[in-house]
Amino acid sequence: MPKTDRPGTLTRVAGPVVVAENLVGAQMYEVIRVGALGLIGEVIRLEGSCATIQVYEDTSGLRVGDPVQATGAPLQVELGPGLLGSIFDGIQRPLPLVREQAGDFIARGITATAIDRIKKWDFTPLVRAGDQVKPGDILGTVAETAQLTHRILVPPTMEGIVEEIRAGAFTIDETIGTIRAHNDHSAPTAIRLAQKWPVRHGRPYARKLDPDTPLLTGQRVIDSFFPIAKGGTAIIPGGFGSGKTVAEQTLAKWADADIVIYVGCGERGNEMTDVLEEFPKLVDARTNEPLMRRTILIANTSNMPVAAREASIYTGITLAEYYRDMGYAVALMADSTSRWGEALREVSGRLEEMPGEEGYPAYLATRLADFYERAGRVVALGKDNRIGSITVIGAVSPPGGDFSEPMTQNSLRVAGAFWGLDTGLARRRHFPAINWITSYSLYDLRKWFIDNVASDWEAQTGEALALLQKEAELLEIVQLVGSDALPESEKALLKIGQMLREDYLQQFAFHDIDGFCPPMKQYWMLRVILTFHRGLARAIKRGTTLERIVKTSTPVSPSINAVLQTRKGKSSKAEQADDPSQDSVSTSQGTLLERAMALPVVGEIARMKEWPHPDAEMHGRELMEQVERELSTLR
Ligand SMILES: Nc1ncnc2c1ncn2[C@@H]1O[C@H](COP(=O)(O)OP(=O)(O)OP(=O)(O)O)[C@@H](O)[C@H]1O
Ligand SMILES: [Mg+2]
Repeated sequence: MPKTDRPGTLTRVAGPVVVAENLVGAQMYEVIRVGALGLIGEVIRLEGSCATIQVYEDTSGLRVGDPVQATGAPLQVELGPGLLGSIFDGIQRPLPLVREQAGDFIARGITATAIDRIKKWDFTPLVRAGDQVKPGDILGTVAETAQLTHRILVPPTMEGIVEEIRAGAFTIDETIGTIRAHNDHSAPTAIRLAQKWPVRHGRPYARKLDPDTPLLTGQRVIDSFFPIAKGGTAIIPGGFGSGKTVAEQTLAKWADADIVIYVGCGERGNEMTDVLEEFPKLVDARTNEPLMRRTILIANTSNMPVAAREASIYTGITLAEYYRDMGYAVALMADSTSRWGEALREVSGRLEEMPGEEGYPAYLATRLADFYERAGRVVALGKDNRIGSITVIGAVSPPGGDFSEPMTQNSLRVAGAFWGLDTGLARRRHFPAINWITSYSLYDLRKWFIDNVASDWEAQTGEALALLQKEAELLEIVQLVGSDALPESEKALLKIGQMLREDYLQQFAFHDIDGFCPPMKQYWMLRVILTFHRGLARAIKRGTTLERIVKTSTPVSPSINAVLQTRKGKSSKAEQADDPSQDSVSTSQGTLLERAMALPVVGEIARMKEWPHPDAEMHGRELMEQVERELSTLR
């Protein structure tokens, strides 16, 4: 609604940033309609009645002298039942609806309301007339999907006495009841199923809690070695093509969150198309419901105006807070936060602000911190002390894969887990290419895994990671002096390292079974490999040399050869691609191991990934026995 009848006028247009005069009374971050088309923009600098506005739509064709109208409101999102399953652009316009109105390309200045206004929702009240209510109290519920009860809460700014509350079917605009503020003699306030919230302000909560439960991802390298907590933050930095997008999408599919919000921020359109095409077809293994029913997609691709990238990030986190306040575990994936940083840099440049490091604005660090700060596990407002969480996982795309650049460094400072993607691993088709030496997690979730998976979880994962670190050190030596100079025990360690890397860490995201690996299966897989490690160490102590293992063991049987071949074929389409850059150490190790695979159990270990999840313990126990049996026969 226009606040003044007299519009301002445009005095300057510079890409996504425009300047307008005579916007009397405009506020910082107020939404402004710019030009005859009414493009949507936001005030980002005010000097008297002269306002600088970042425009969320393409500004070509705007001219000096065009009218500019203030709307009197900040950028807000609409919150209510019907959000789940939606696909929005950066400023919460539903893309399918926009397409109906305007065709394949978003026409500029288009307004479309975020949530369906016609659909009726069955509302069941949980309060009665006369009840006192405070912010965050539950007024009633609506079944948004078969799995998710949407709690209608008293808005954070309202409290008083319920004067009226109705059960029945309502659209999001209809009044479901009224609340009268204490000692207020004016008319009571109408309550509806939907409410609005300004995106730049975090929604309030009662208090923050320490995270203590993992957000299970089903990705072995993450859950076993660098787990993230519900309410935690993680970043996935990685150079071009190192697997950021696949990682974000895999997490969006498998993370055990109630709600997933996926923000495609400034990345190529075809990556978003993958999501848009794939997600509606996927079924959530836990609930057997379509995965889209728990997902909200925000698509803001590289061909959309840069300023809207920032809006897409804020829109995403505000939607996340709304469901967190209902008491749900929300996971937000942003791919890639670097594109948001670049938008900040571009807008700041147009504002002629003093540039900071590498041209990014000096406030980059605070912007990032403010965003990640909105993650967390909290006690929500409201008398029932609901606990909700937002986990944020942001991809970062450092140019040239150089992690010392400002976006990576500033994100690293505020994130609790760092999953660094390694271009070298990606080139060797080791996926997910999370580097196990440089990555870390600051979340202490050992207790959860010990209580819920196995009492020796910490011992197993700790031992495996230590072996991998030892292997990395040895590989450096091998590169200098070759593996022949190593003592037998260290040659054995290289073998175990390779087994851990290939049969444990590598996980093909698109494999039907292996795409997701529950913690219990992770545990049994690790136990088998560690049993093999100990058995091999004992055999070496008895005087067996690896050389002799290779020589004396039976020649590779045709059936094992077949296993080897299928194993190669199964791992990944990408892995099959001939890669001339294969590092020589890994190749020579590969031939050594393949010869040692004359031990049938080694082939079996390589197939652990295909175990059906519920049978992991049974297979694990059988395989451990086989490991002991075969290794004890070695002399
Ligand atoms: N977990 C995985 N399993 C199998 N293949 C993978 C996995 N991760 C990445 N890949 C392969 O690597 C390719 C590149 O991955 P992706 O597109 O995610 O990289 P990116 O880091 O997002 O690249 P960009 O910098 O271009 O955005 C994928 O097309 C896929 O073939
Ligand atoms: Mg990508």
